[in-house]
Amino acid sequence: MGRILITSALPYINGIKHLGNLVGSQLPSDVYARFARARGHEVLFICATDEHGTPAELAAAKAGEAVADYCARMWQVQKDIADGFRLSFDHFGRSSSSRNHHLTQHFAGRLADAGLIEEVSEKQVYSKADGRFLPDRYIEGTCPNCGYERARGDQCENCTKQLDPTDLINPRSAISGSTDLEVRETGHLYLRQSQLRDRLREWIDSKTDWPILTTSIAKKWLDDGDGLQDRGITRDLDWGIPVKKGDADWPGMEGKVFYVWFDAPIEYIAASAEWADATGQGDAAWERWWRTDKGADDVRYVQFMGKDNVPFHTLSFPATVLGSGEDWKLVDYIKSFNYLNYDGGKFSTSEGRGVFMDQALDILPSDYWRWWLMANVPESSDSNFTWEAFQAGVNKDLADVLGNFVSRVTKFARSRFEEKVPDTGEYGPDEQALIEDLTRRLKAYETHMEAIDLRKGAQELRGIWAAGNEYLQAAAPWALFKTDPDRAGAIVRFSLNLVRFYAVLSQPFIPDASRAMLDAFDGEDFAWPEDVSAALSSLTPGSAFTTPEVLFAKITDDAREEFSTRFAGTA
Ligand code: MF3
Ligand code: ZN
Repeated sequence: MGRILITSALPYINGIKHLGNLVGSQLPSDVYARFARARGHEVLFICATDEHGTPAELAAAKAGEAVADYCARMWQVQKDIADGFRLSFDHFGRSSSSRNHHLTQHFAGRLADAGLIEEVSEKQVYSKADGRFLPDRYIEGTCPNCGYERARGDQCENCTKQLDPTDLINPRSAISGSTDLEVRETGHLYLRQSQLRDRLREWIDSKTDWPILTTSIAKKWLDDGDGLQDRGITRDLDWGIPVKKGDADWPGMEGKVFYVWFDAPIEYIAASAEWADATGQGDAAWERWWRTDKGADDVRYVQFMGKDNVPFHTLSFPATVLGSGEDWKLVDYIKSFNYLNYDGGKFSTSEGRGVFMDQALDILPSDYWRWWLMANVPESSDSNFTWEAFQAGVNKDLADVLGNFVSRVTKFARSRFEEKVPDTGEYGPDEQALIEDLTRRLKAYETHMEAIDLRKGAQELRGIWAAGNEYLQAAAPWALFKTDPDRAGAIVRFSLNLVRFYAVLSQPFIPDASRAMLDAFDGEDFAWPEDVSAALSSLTPGSAFTTPEVLFAKITDDAREEFSTRFAGTA
């Protein structure tokens, strides 16, 4: 089994993320990481907060806090919520770490040495009302590409085009709303990405197995030429990584910081170094994941992100990595996602519309969210959260199918077989038929999960649960118990083995319920089934088990209506 390096796009530090953010990178990356570990791969799973740039400064100002304090506090908030969702990061780092400061400055120095950085005197938008330059999100206006009226200075979220503040039509300050803006000259560094066009094209063309969503976005910006315009990588901001050339000062760049999108992806690497630091290991521990000259050649590196992040990960970050001329690991596979909508519209922080991660955990267990979101993950198109669909999915798949199966068999075995795995009777043709069916389904499940087709994976898992439920319904040991108790015993033994089997297979999606199911059996572990027949005879006949609590309570109509009112927002 090989080594798999997995990163989730780094959530911005400003504020608590909503379910649409969760399902666009952190959650699917966790499901895949859990699956990969269960299959015996050595996994390093990394995430971090993305702490620099205008969003952090604006949010801290709004909260009336110093930006460093705000970031420290919000990191803990996001970390606790990630734990609540059982996101199994090996490390949840911070892009403001000293590791990232050094590594970002190091990359800038290497790029400069390679002649890939140009010092330009640049036109920046200056706001007289605000008394400052307005980089990135400090400025809003109409997108020159698609006409969207609320495009930001760094990117249009409607058409994903990367922008410069001076590109915007009818620009206004995001701080004061002032349109009294002027263009002033100031020195900045530009990354000459265009020099790397041929190498990037060759690299992207070689990735024939990438999802269409990823390649189509990558090629669009590569071919338009626009995505590879040389881009400013410095900003006139206080908060960020000071511009240096390695350890040395950079004349003319005093008081400036690197652009957030320059340092954020470097944090994937830096967070891995933070992980090594936090676990008391030396540099070799993280370098063997990241340096192809230090053992990372056999690592498969998979990134997860929303579609708006794709240009940065297919063009800008690879340009940084390739341009450094050093032996850094490049990503092997980019899994990208469409958007999740809330009840036919957008999630909105300002309008309080939709469910945010903290609220989700306040009202229901994380497994409910994990399951529904992954069963409806926006892979091939945008998907839509509605309370009706959520209630129906949770009640049907989790309560009626899986929960009901577990509860029926364990309760029956408790009342009729003294809470022991029955040791009477033999498996017959019905069990054999289910073993064959499950062997096929397990293969399909593994194939989808290995291909990171997570929605299909969830579908197959649901099919695996349903097959057991149908078997138990038809075998009806409660009806046989009086006339043929031995046969009833064999059915119950088989079904208890299915509970354990389900615990193992379901663990990537619903880790808490899986734990509860596995804990019913003493000393059982999450070892992945190599052979279905063997897996379904693994419990020792005659051994005791404990009947788990109800795994999933149904969401009532009253609760659904109350939630749907509560999260409708103010607009
Ligand atoms: N913070 C960005 C977003 O949420 C993602 C950054 S991914 C990174 O859109 F790797 F570049 F940090
Ligand atoms: Zn646009």
